[in-house]
Amino acid sequence: MAVTQGRAALLIEPGKPVVVEDIEVDAPGAEEVLVRIVASGVCHTDLTIKNQNGAGMKFPIVLGHEGAGFVEQVGESVTHLKIGDPVVIAYRAPCEKCPACRRGDPRHCYAALRPGLRIKRKSTGEVCSQVLRCGTFSTHTVVHSKAAIKMPAEMPLDKACLIACGVITGVGATMNTVKVFPGASVAVVGCGGVGLSVIQGAKLAHAKRIIAVDVNPTKLQWAKDYGATHTVNALDGDPVKAVRDLVTDDWPGYEGGVDFAFEATGLMRCIEQCVRMVNYNGTAVNIGFPGSEDTVTLNIGNIDTGVYWNKVNLSVCHAGDTLPATDFPLMAQYYLNGELKLDEMISRVIGLDDVEAAFHEMETGNVIRSVIRFD
Ligand SMILES: NC(=O)c1ccc[n+]([C@@H]2O[C@H](COP(=O)([O-])OP(=O)(O)OC[C@H]3O[C@@H](n4cnc5c(N)ncnc54)[C@H](O)[C@@H]3O)[C@@H](O)[C@H]2O)c1
Ligand SMILES: [Zn+2]
Ligand SMILES: [Zn+2]
Repeated sequence: MAVTQGRAALLIEPGKPVVVEDIEVDAPGAEEVLVRIVASGVCHTDLTIKNQNGAGMKFPIVLGHEGAGFVEQVGESVTHLKIGDPVVIAYRAPCEKCPACRRGDPRHCYAALRPGLRIKRKSTGEVCSQVLRCGTFSTHTVVHSKAAIKMPAEMPLDKACLIACGVITGVGATMNTVKVFPGASVAVVGCGGVGLSVIQGAKLAHAKRIIAVDVNPTKLQWAKDYGATHTVNALDGDPVKAVRDLVTDDWPGYEGGVDFAFEATGLMRCIEQCVRMVNYNGTAVNIGFPGSEDTVTLNIGNIDTGVYWNKVNLSVCHAGDTLPATDFPLMAQYYLNGELKLDEMISRVIGLDDVEAAFHEMETGNVIRSVIRFD
């Protein structure tokens, strides 16, 4: 199979803006597929990886990990996909070999399947890393075939791409990382693409109260459209008190607090707030992507909100603890049934040259997702 010519948005060196360059993509190796990308969402993690100077990845780096497209080439020994299949790319497809996979718990796989390094800068021949083993800000990428999850034919790929990260992370946090039960009370701190997906998951799980917390009034308005029953602007005072006050019960000993508090900001103080928002035996879930020096301080001994007396659980969500082969088609089905909003999450349709502008929009304001279209 010949080398494929393409274009990609790359980080070339630390501290420099994203550049769009010609690339050459080698044919897929055994168990790999080459995907022609149709659309890719811009997730905050791409920006964080830029801001964290690659977050440990080797430069140059092809950005993007929320992509969907069509299989264009199939490597040796791939039997479950064929050329032309529509797929969403998963960054946490289980490895089938680690201790978790071996004991039948692939949602908690220690690793993830990765492809060989097949993308090169055309100008220099340098081999590129692919963010989270994906690299979807690119006309073409090569991924492990089990990380390419087939979509139903009727699923539009420019919407399906959102499933790959923001949607599966948020919805999966409520279904897999923890199990939000019918009637539960839930707080969601941070209502971007991930937080709004947590809200959608909590609604699908029939939570009774869904309290959205953000600092942006527009995001809070949107949160209501996605299923929030209450909103709290964290700039109006202590969000912990506001959330606790919103949850009441006829039982006289009740101190307020939610069963589940999801942090979807990447801010340490929001993790601390989530820990103090939950009721007895409640669970705070850290979703935001931290920096290597980020640290939280947890009070253990406060009689009302301390981790010991309130018996607080702290859980971490990685990509919604997803099993992509089953969860991605399920998300598509929810969308096709009208139970999951995806169209509304796309605030901007952009081109590959607009990644820096999309990062800026994300930092300043009123977008849920910018989606890069390649067709
Ligand atoms: N764990 C995972 O698997 C995973 C997957 C995807 C994204 N992430 C991370 O999740 C986080 C959210 O991602 P996103 O794409 O939704 O980002 P986003 O930028 O779209 O949304 C972040 C939201 O947080 C709000 N916010 C900022 N400061 C706040 C505060 N003090 N209190 C409450 N809200 C505040 C912003 O207004 C915004 O609405 C990022 O850190 C991202 O890297 C993690
Ligand atoms: Zn992401
Ligand atoms: Zn594994």
